[in-house]
Amino acid sequence: MEKNVIRKAVLALREEMKTEEIEEKSQKIMSRLREMVLFQQSLVIMTYVGFGSEVATLPFIAESLALGKRVVVPVCMPKSKELLISEIKDPKLDLQPQGRIGLLEPPKERLSVIDPQEIDLILMPGIAFDRQGGRVGYGAGYYDRFLASFKKCPLLVALSFDCQLVEAVPVEKHDIPVDWIITENEMIPAT
Ligand SMILES: Nc1ncnc2c1ncn2[C@@H]1O[C@H](COP(=O)(O)OP(=O)(O)OP(=O)(O)O)[C@@H](O)[C@H]1O
Ligand SMILES: [Mg+2]
Repeated sequence: MEKNVIRKAVLALREEMKTEEIEEKSQKIMSRLREMVLFQQSLVIMTYVGFGSEVATLPFIAESLALGKRVVVPVCMPKSKELLISEIKDPKLDLQPQGRIGLLEPPKERLSVIDPQEIDLILMPGIAFDRQGGRVGYGAGYYDRFLASFKKCPLLVALSFDCQLVEAVPVEKHDIPVDWIITENEMIPAT
């Protein structure tokens, strides 16, 4: 239950931000990510596609492709609560508004499945994070279930605004901690 209290409180804070503030802070977060050697060394990157008040990732997708990296995005399967992944080659064609809320995802006819084991780095969305790498997502368990399927988990880097950092999030057995949290002000290695 406590996770839900945190979800509600932090989402409310995040949603107070104006569009320009989200853009500006997202750009700062992305410049920190670009400077990370671990990012520079990654060839296959999985990233969520920022929606609403989430840290924006769309410009980053185009940039990574221009750098010659391979980019994959999650595709939510609401019935099974599973995450599929699909490779993006051309963001305009491969990302189109889907479902009720218009989340940018690959349309069915453009799904391009790749082996998750090829992923080097995952940019993780989330609602709240703590400095130990604890993460509260939207509450469906999509990422926890997806990450549990790896033999060797890729590097997990969470993108978060400062206002999403909390003292400690409740951690359950199935929760997989992130390795790094990048905010507009800090690079935080999970301890
Ligand atoms: N590996 C798993 N196998 C089966 N069920 C799981 C697994 N991981 C999480 N779940 C289920 O998913 C539900 C939601 O988990 P949790 O509250 O941690 O979501 P979350 O981390 O906020 O969501 P998300 O991973 O989508 O960001 C839990 O009730 C849990 O039972
Ligand atoms: Mg979880």
